[in-house]
Amino acid sequence: MEIVICKDAHEAGIAAADRLVHYIEGLPTPVIGLATGSSPKALYQELTRRVEGGRLDLSHALGFALDEYVGIDRSHPESYHSVITHSVIEPLRMTPSRVRVPDGLAADLQAAADEYDEAIELAGGVDVQILGIGSNAHIGFNEPFSSFSSRTRIKTLTPQTREDNARFFDSIEQVPTHCVTQGLGTIMDSRVALLMASGEKKADAIAAMVEGPVATRCPASILQFHPRAIVVIDEAAASKL
Ligand code: GLP
Repeated sequence: MEIVICKDAHEAGIAAADRLVHYIEGLPTPVIGLATGSSPKALYQELTRRVEGGRLDLSHALGFALDEYVGIDRSHPESYHSVITHSVIEPLRMTPSRVRVPDGLAADLQAAADEYDEAIELAGGVDVQILGIGSNAHIGFNEPFSSFSSRTRIKTLTPQTREDNARFFDSIEQVPTHCVTQGLGTIMDSRVALLMASGEKKADAIAAMVEGPVATRCPASILQFHPRAIVVIDEAAASKL
């Protein structure tokens, strides 16, 4: 694991963007794994600056989002379809038809999840997977005790994650109970895993991921076995290392 400790979000955004660009530069069709949440925001902001400045073009890139809630309409402002559209596709000027988000409304959710994994494979696999991390060290929505070899599938959200995400909804009752998420095995297939975190609230998760045992109770710890995992964090998130 390469650990990059930055003094603030702005610096973290630049450090992460430099690395992402390094790994996709020159690829005819870069495939980028997209994450929602506040963690990668600084990266998206820096990429947006580069796109607006004419230094980066992502219109030919393919994007695959990590996860989606089950059962909320795509037009709901907190569906990951909406979040990816407004916080990634639009500012980064990606081509909407080239970006996919798992289907949380399919009649057969598992069939749709299997098809999603196939689409990633058909695209040639993910070149750079952007990741945030939950306070319980989940990545995507792979909650503690998710199988390390899991593929895209339906998961139940833990009370902790529903509580963490309640800030985006009017009340905790409105936070969906289930999601569709790429599996840890799917994430491990990416050529580069670029994880971002900031703030003291993530310090325990970061310490467990980097220095703890590789164990399913800490899903992100599997990244210790990733051939190219890059962790870009601020000083507060690094405070327990
Ligand atoms: C959500 C997402 C994850 C994200 C995590 C952390 O549950 N499914 O992909 O990494 O929460 O979110 P944040 O970065 O906002 O703390």
